[in-house]
Amino acid sequence: MNSIEPNSLLSVPTGALRIPELPRATINADSEPLLSLVIPTYKEAGNIQKIVSVLSNLLDESIPGNYELIVVDDDSPDGTWKIAQSLIIEYPQLRVMRRQNERGLSSAVIRGWQAATGSILGVIDADLQHPPHVLLQLLQAVEEGADLAVASRHVDGGGVSSWSFIRRFLSRGAQLLGLIILPGVLGRVSDPMSGYFMIRRRCIVGQTLNPVGYKILLEAIGRGNVGKIAEVGYVFSERKEGESKVTWKQYVEYIHHLIRLRLSTGKVGQFSQRIGFPIGRFLRFGLVGLSGVFVDMTVLYLLSDPTTLGLPLTRSKIIAGEVAIVNNFLWNDMWTFADVSSHQQQWRQRLKRFLKFNIICLAGLVLNVLVLNLVFNFVIPNRYIANLIAIAVATVWNFWVNLKLSWRVTQVK
Ligand code: GDD
Ligand code: MN
Repeated sequence: MNSIEPNSLLSVPTGALRIPELPRATINADSEPLLSLVIPTYKEAGNIQKIVSVLSNLLDESIPGNYELIVVDDDSPDGTWKIAQSLIIEYPQLRVMRRQNERGLSSAVIRGWQAATGSILGVIDADLQHPPHVLLQLLQAVEEGADLAVASRHVDGGGVSSWSFIRRFLSRGAQLLGLIILPGVLGRVSDPMSGYFMIRRRCIVGQTLNPVGYKILLEAIGRGNVGKIAEVGYVFSERKEGESKVTWKQYVEYIHHLIRLRLSTGKVGQFSQRIGFPIGRFLRFGLVGLSGVFVDMTVLYLLSDPTTLGLPLTRSKIIAGEVAIVNNFLWNDMWTFADVSSHQQQWRQRLKRFLKFNIICLAGLVLNVLVLNLVFNFVIPNRYIANLIAIAVATVWNFWVNLKLSWRVTQVK
């Protein structure tokens, strides 16, 4: 079973979520497909056959042999990837990727695009809520010169069939909030929440996209180099099989996402890119460190103060220090490095990050003491200034080494 079977799975790209140039060999080759359409799936066993068949029929008629469908399934317990794989015989333009170590809609789309060989990259939901025929209009818009073509519920011909008042309200509210936080991106499309669009590869080539949240379109517009945008109206129909994975969590992630995009594409973000130092991340890391100081102090007080437990000082300090390290780890994992940790969520991976963080911070403490002594004895004989310098050095150490080791983006197999 070692030979490559005709219906074998696509291997999952690892490392940074960056869109590559087209591989040299495929440029100008006859085999280069025009369109690579990613279909992200999670528990879509009831829909996958239908969507693959409808899309294939549609594209076989308009651009025969000139497209690929890429199903990216996150190891669905209902075996969606397996069903998809069994369809390859019948639909030779179909590719299937089964992800086992990462999860999430946005990163699924990016991984699919990374494996794609087309010059136009697209995405469509698997649940048939995105009407397939709109695809041809999107494609036409791109062929007529648009860099990006978005299926929109909020232009002529668009709508949301029978959404509840609450969901409409939340959807519009989210859009309004987006306009306030990130007008330069949200203002360019009428339906920034759309998960149905096509973009020219060259607009996002070389960009590392951030997988926080559901809204990959925002990333593409915010970080890409997108000129003309076209919109095509569509009615978001109801699901017949399976269920939506959208929960309140996605709303929180969305706001988080807007703020991140704002920060990383704003002035500070540009400067930070130019000098090659992640300023935003460093500031977050510093804030977390500050919170650790308070935690450390509080625990030290609770354990060792004569009016509380009155435990011995050294023992109390060791516990306080460790509690602070745990505190800092949790915040850094959830916030400072959320983009990295959100797609490495297994307990084993988390534990590994924690152990590394712990060791690095302890080494940082040793460095702290060392620098304090050196500076105090040989450079500036003022213990507080010397201590400030020592803290600064240890913080940079903690940040840099943790960035490279604990929350490193590349995964070594
Ligand atoms: N691989 C993978 N991993 N796919 C996922 C995941 C995941 O973690 N979560 C969801 N999907 C797939 C689903 O299987 C489906 O094909 C598609 O992504 C959309 O998920 P739904 O759960 O059906 O989302 P929705 O219908 O509530 O939201 C849709 O409409 C929104 C507009 O209101 C999506 O198109 C959103 O992108 C869009 O913003
Ligand atoms: Mn859906």
